[in-house]
Amino acid sequence: MESPHIPVLLEEVLESFSGVPEGYFVDCTLGYAGHSSEVLKRYAHLKHIGIDRDDEALAFSKERLAPYAERSRLYKGTFATVLPTLEEKPVTALLADFGVSSLQLDKKERGFAFDAENLDMRMDASAPLSAYDVVNSYPTEKLEYIFDLYGEVRSYRKLAGEIVQARSKKPIESAKELSDIIARVMPSGGKIHPSTLPFQAIRIEVNNELGEIEGLLDAIEAKHYAGEVVSLITFHSLEDRLVKNRFKKWANACICDPQAMRCTCGKDHALGKPLSRKPVTASKEELKRNPRSRSAKLRSFRFKDGMS
Ligand SMILES: C[S@@+](CC[C@H](N)C(=O)[O-])C[C@H]1O[C@@H](n2cnc3c(N)ncnc32)[C@H](O)[C@@H]1O
Repeated sequence: MESPHIPVLLEEVLESFSGVPEGYFVDCTLGYAGHSSEVLKRYAHLKHIGIDRDDEALAFSKERLAPYAERSRLYKGTFATVLPTLEEKPVTALLADFGVSSLQLDKKERGFAFDAENLDMRMDASAPLSAYDVVNSYPTEKLEYIFDLYGEVRSYRKLAGEIVQARSKKPIESAKELSDIIARVMPSGGKIHPSTLPFQAIRIEVNNELGEIEGLLDAIEAKHYAGEVVSLITFHSLEDRLVKNRFKKWANACICDPQAMRCTCGKDHALGKPLSRKPVTASKEELKRNPRSRSAKLRSFRFKDGMS
């Protein structure tokens, strides 16, 4: 089956799971099953759980994974809500490849593209909040907040002001109209398209992307299994910071108050350790084959044997 999405860092993800014991592999961002199908092929001792909030992705993957139907179960929902409810045990490998799929970006009616005729950006087409609602109904301060925090847009105040002014005349109906407003405030000049960061900010807000990652990390922390390997792929610094800091906390042996004069906890509290000190990034060959891998960073963490 031809896939509309090329999985990033595929070999590196497969490698991160080498040696995991028999159990379940949970793919929290199933997408088009690029990673899942290869994990199932390579690791015959693993059963599979695929989670996605996007019906189109689930339908495609169900068909793609048909040869593995007996070893695979798919769930619709967000990973932060589905993961804590899973009863399958033990989970020995877990993957999340955050962000949007190529199909979501490329399919114009999903409203993620800069020149789309609508303004949507929902990964789950039945979710209540769309980009149209954010752009046309959020108060100025809230727009400023998301452009500043989620997009690190330098002229976030000016951009929010322009949007509020434009929508006071008529609603902003399409991604194209929004891109025109952005181009007026932030004329092109740099390496990236002027709409990249403002669109990223709106997408993060619409899909609660950072809240979802926090929720996933909380669920893993509450529920991890002995010897489990967790591999997480991020695409920008806001995502990567959340993962990096949580891995640091998990690897920390001492849980004493940092203000304490001396350690009294016994320094035996590390939950495990990262597989590598630095994140894994795409090779030159992969960058050539798939430009989307440019910003991908893979961090993996192995929980200690003999826990939970
Ligand atoms: C980058 S794609 C994953 C591609 C996949 N690894 C593959 O090889 O085909 C991300 C997928 O995760 C889904 N997704 C993103 N955030 C999610 C969340 N919080 N809960 C569930 N699914 C999510 C998106 O709908 C999208 O299909």
